[in-house]
Amino acid sequence: MRLGGARRRAAASARALILLLLVGCDAGGLEWGRPPALASSSPADGATEVDRVLTLRVHYDEHLAARTVSRGTVTLRSGPRTYLLSVRYDPILRAIVAREWGNAPLEPNVEHELSVSGVRGLDGTPAEPVVIRFRTGAALGVPEVEGTTTWSQVQPILASRCGPCHDDTQREHGLVLTSPNGIASTAVGVEARQTARVGTAERGLGGMSRIHVVAGIGDPARSYLVYKLLGDAPIHGMPMPPDEALTPSEVATVVDWILSGAPTE
Ligand code: HEC
Repeated sequence: MRLGGARRRAAASARALILLLLVGCDAGGLEWGRPPALASSSPADGATEVDRVLTLRVHYDEHLAARTVSRGTVTLRSGPRTYLLSVRYDPILRAIVAREWGNAPLEPNVEHELSVSGVRGLDGTPAEPVVIRFRTGAALGVPEVEGTTTWSQVQPILASRCGPCHDDTQREHGLVLTSPNGIASTAVGVEARQTARVGTAERGLGGMSRIHVVAGIGDPARSYLVYKLLGDAPIHGMPMPPDEALTPSEVATVVDWILSGAPTE
């Protein structure tokens, strides 16, 4: 959701506009009670000559509830064999991202079946089960690398785009995003104020931390800050930053930094 130039400047302070934005969030994009549906997948159903080292992606037309996307709901089989997968929900792509644990190659020249069942939308509506069949070829392919964004790459974005309201002097909502200390004490593992509110809690983002990192591993799909950047989920209040959204590549940098465990050195 983007606002026009003149209104953008007023957005941070104008109460009426906040209300307007809230109504806007509710009316647009998400339709409650409708099951999230398959939008596309990679590989596509029926694909052949698929690389043996690959990242599988199942895209939906609505956000999924990240906690329902797991090794229990996403399985990859080939004949009697079931693969051990690493699975996560990507909130930018609205996709389930799965790969063989440790990027080990799949068996060559056989039929594989990826099935997804038991995942839900943010409001708890079950998604339709999905089955995608594809056939590997002989080629290995190149593993995708992610979770490599460093503090020095993300720091300029946080300083210039969030700093004006979330630094040591502004501390909007008590959130400081400009220093390692501020991030550690006000963002990582700290429950977002807004996810505790009725409305957001009812609609799937309830009880989220601002930045979710457990044992050094970051999970952008459970970080409320990411939904505030995307502005397409049932967030409370304004999308962030309120004046002008980050570019898609800046959002990708912040999300990958969280995936990297939100390092600050
Ligand atoms: C112009 C000032 C301004 C800028 C710039 C800004 N914010 Fe905010 N932020 C606010 C205000 C005001 C609130 C509380 C009201 C709201 O969310 O609508 C807030 C709330 C938040 C919250 C919710 C905190 C909670 O506990 O619920 C998050 C997360 C957040 N901002 C992240 C960011 C990020 C990330 C950036 C930079 C990419 C950013 N903000 C840039 C003013 C700003």
